Amino acid sequence: MIEVQDAAAQLAQIAARATTCTACGLSQTRTTVVFGEGNPQAPLMIVGEGPGEREDLTGRPFVGRAGALLDECLAENGITRRHVYIANVVKCRACIVENGRKRNRAPTLQEIAACNPWLQQQLAIVKPLVVLCLGAPSASLLIHKNFRMTQERGKFFEVPYARYAIAALHPAYILRQGGQAFLEARKTLVQDIEAARLKVIEVRREARKTLF
Ligand code: URA
Repeated sequence: MIEVQDAAAQLAQIAARATTCTACGLSQTRTTVVFGEGNPQAPLMIVGEGPGEREDLTGRPFVGRAGALLDECLAENGITRRHVYIANVVKCRACIVENGRKRNRAPTLQEIAACNPWLQQQLAIVKPLVVLCLGAPSASLLIHKNFRMTQERGKFFEVPYARYAIAALHPAYILRQGGQAFLEARKTLVQDIEAARLKVIEVRREARKTLF
């Protein structure tokens, strides 16, 4: 119990520090820093790309359309937000400002590198058994640099910050697919979440065995 509070308190402290971060230019266009949230001792940590419009306005990760799809796919595996910790590779919305309007864009490698210390601290505190990377920027940062989503999603990789990491299609990408392609892509996300959930169970079972 004390450990749970410790982890929550540590995350809260770091989140408070992140609110004033100016390590990259995204600090100039953000409304809010979207630090991340969830179970501070989650065995499964989900890492997306970065906040979109709704996340930037609310300060919470995955609360827009992509988040609704993610919640649906988690629920099909019996997982709720209380079970997981959710963060992003960048904590501030990457956008292009045109005629006073903001349009999402992918974060640059420099922005991802500038934000990485926050993510590394989150990983070190939560100490997840399995990390689920959503989308290529997350997989390239946390699994390997030349990650190929089409060939390598759904596979487990041994990583230093958890026992395993696995990557899945990003829900925003899935939403951009139409008809049958949408259904097929959505199915892969449900399957990859299931694989991550089963891996957590397997790792826990192995850890118990080594005690005796
Ligand atoms: N997409 C992401 O990658 N992260 C969010 O928090 C929302 C949308």
